[in-house]
Amino acid sequence: MRSIASLLLFIFMVAFRMVKGSTRIPKSQIPIKIGHRGAAGYCPENTAASFKKAIELGVDYLEIDIQMTRDNKLVIIHDPTINRTTNGKGHVKDLTLKELQALDAGSWFHPKFSKEKILSFSGFLDEFAEKTGLLIELKKPSLYPGIEEKVANELLKRGLTKGDTDKIIVQSFDQNSLKRFHKLLPSVPIGVLVKKRGVKGLSNKELQSFSTYAAYVNPKITMINKRLIRRIHHHGFKTLVWTVRKKKDVHLLKRYNIDGIISDFPDIF
Ligand code: G3P
Ligand code: CA
Repeated sequence: MRSIASLLLFIFMVAFRMVKGSTRIPKSQIPIKIGHRGAAGYCPENTAASFKKAIELGVDYLEIDIQMTRDNKLVIIHDPTINRTTNGKGHVKDLTLKELQALDAGSWFHPKFSKEKILSFSGFLDEFAEKTGLLIELKKPSLYPGIEEKVANELLKRGLTKGDTDKIIVQSFDQNSLKRFHKLLPSVPIGVLVKKRGVKGLSNKELQSFSTYAAYVNPKITMINKRLIRRIHHHGFKTLVWTVRKKKDVHLLKRYNIDGIISDFPDIF
């Protein structure tokens, strides 16, 4: 009796996920092309130069990392500190937007990018939201209480959550943050980011636990194999694989029928 009940629950969850996430990406565009931090292989990551380059290379989506400043403004930067990607030092959360935007966010990559700045989320949306889909990563959201509300409000204010498309996808490694975001904006598809864990990899129990809030399960390339992709699909999720840097991996991933490829070099597709 109990096993019939579990079977019915499983069938219900898969059907629910299929209805929720099936028709949004036209088949012809699969796998979708996603520019990682823009075109981070060619330009300083998460800058306007990088996003423009990715669009030039024909991406369907821009992947960005969001954090929050001392004065509660959303900014686009990958690390919790500014040390690696700017000429400054310190934590994003300890600096104001004005202080962050005074920094050079490009010379570390190449001197010709010395004019690149850290972008605010609103500045980024002004310039790029109409041009491509957006894959928004909430980066270390536990450092920034309330970041989910801030992101949701910005998207709502701009009417970016309307319509039956996956134009905006929100992803994170932080499952609690994703659950909070899903409650705030249930129409925006959620992606759970996963890295390899132990010998067992990603268990069915874990996959089932994502079902209540996520539409995507997005694994690191080093953990994938055909069976894992099949299991992710079997549970009713779509999957975007990161971070792809080699052409031979693109060919392999296409054979695995994945739904999207996140790459630093969006022209390797
Ligand atoms: O889009 C997935 C990928 O960006 C997650 O890792 O470290 O590049 O933000 P990371
Ligand atoms: Ca990211």
